[in-house]
Amino acid sequence: MAVSVLLGLQWGDEGKGKIVDFLAPQFQVVARFQGGPNAGHTLEFDGQKHVLHQIPSGIFRPHIKNIVGNGLVIDPIVFRREVENLRQHAPEISQNLFISKKAHLILPTHRVLDAAYEKVKGEKKIGSTLRGIGPTYQNKIGRQGLRIGDLLTPNFDEKYQYLKAHHHQLLHQLGYEYDTQAEEATFLEAIAFLKTLQLCDTEYLINDAIAQGESILAEGAQGAMLDIDFGSYPYVTSSNTIVAGALTGLGIAPQHIGEVLGIFKAYCTRVGSGPFPTELQEATGEKLRQIGREFGATTGRPRRCGWLDLPALKYAVMLNGVTQLLMMKADVLNDFEEIQVCTHYEQEDGSRTDRLPYCLQDVPVRPVYQRFEGWQQDLGA
Ligand code: IMP
Repeated sequence: MAVSVLLGLQWGDEGKGKIVDFLAPQFQVVARFQGGPNAGHTLEFDGQKHVLHQIPSGIFRPHIKNIVGNGLVIDPIVFRREVENLRQHAPEISQNLFISKKAHLILPTHRVLDAAYEKVKGEKKIGSTLRGIGPTYQNKIGRQGLRIGDLLTPNFDEKYQYLKAHHHQLLHQLGYEYDTQAEEATFLEAIAFLKTLQLCDTEYLINDAIAQGESILAEGAQGAMLDIDFGSYPYVTSSNTIVAGALTGLGIAPQHIGEVLGIFKAYCTRVGSGPFPTELQEATGEKLRQIGREFGATTGRPRRCGWLDLPALKYAVMLNGVTQLLMMKADVLNDFEEIQVCTHYEQEDGSRTDRLPYCLQDVPVRPVYQRFEGWQQDLGA
């Protein structure tokens, strides 16, 4: 059976958690393929809200195998906290959670580096979640990183001390003051805990599941416009959030991909810095934020809000080969007399395009809107 991929088509926070929560019972495997504790998938179980950061959303169902793929970066401290908080609602967590040995480890010093790099950037900061995501992927690509599987090797401590010393050196060069000593003890306890979980070669696990005809859902985090290659670079996250990320982040071949479920909101939001052509900085934006409860699930930061951006959405649909579109939160617009949708961008020379220009921050565009009368009634009624 083919692998279904579910992903966000905007700047994250499209409501993926809610859809995965709804769809997960139909699947035998749910797998995360990129990102890490920067994500926050909110779902409800037993009438209680849970925010999952690194653990796949099928965790509450004992029959589902939950795979944390090689494409992720894992913070052991956050991971331990997450597993311990979930135990009450997911007692089988030790049996139905599988972590790739090839996923990378976020060290306490990666988080400090994240903050230090943001400080150095000043006004040009990315608005990172400060979870250490960028520096950990940087070490992965720079072939210096530590992986989950390293925890099982006899010289793990040596490897850890080496990378930590390198980070200290970098932080010293940046003149950044910090103290990770207290946190280090918690980190070491957390990695001991991690070793009690199922650490495995998840690429075999998932390919065996494919061979046995099991139904698999690959669960994306963030959104297409935050993709490291195709998002609004450099104001992006450090992983491939598009469908291609599911292939490298799980170790599956392209012919196994079936449905691609693309989630978007009836309007747009963005957390952190970076271009956002349809952003509304006045009362309408505030109204969207309040009605849509647009505050970050991971950081609590208020999200920037704006009208639906069709050129960006069409771009994301193209990159992902979306086969099913799911629109979320249309009910947030119930009260609006008028709703606007951006259909094109007007460029500096006055020409119009419905394609995404190379760089929105240095060469801004003016959104061209189509206006619609609002339905002004409760859609749920
Ligand atoms: P990082 O992934 O923490 O390095 O953050 C890079 C950019 O991606 C920042 O603008 C963040 O606000 C944004 N970002 C990262 N994760 C999420 C998410 O799960 N939802 C929305 N934005 C995110």
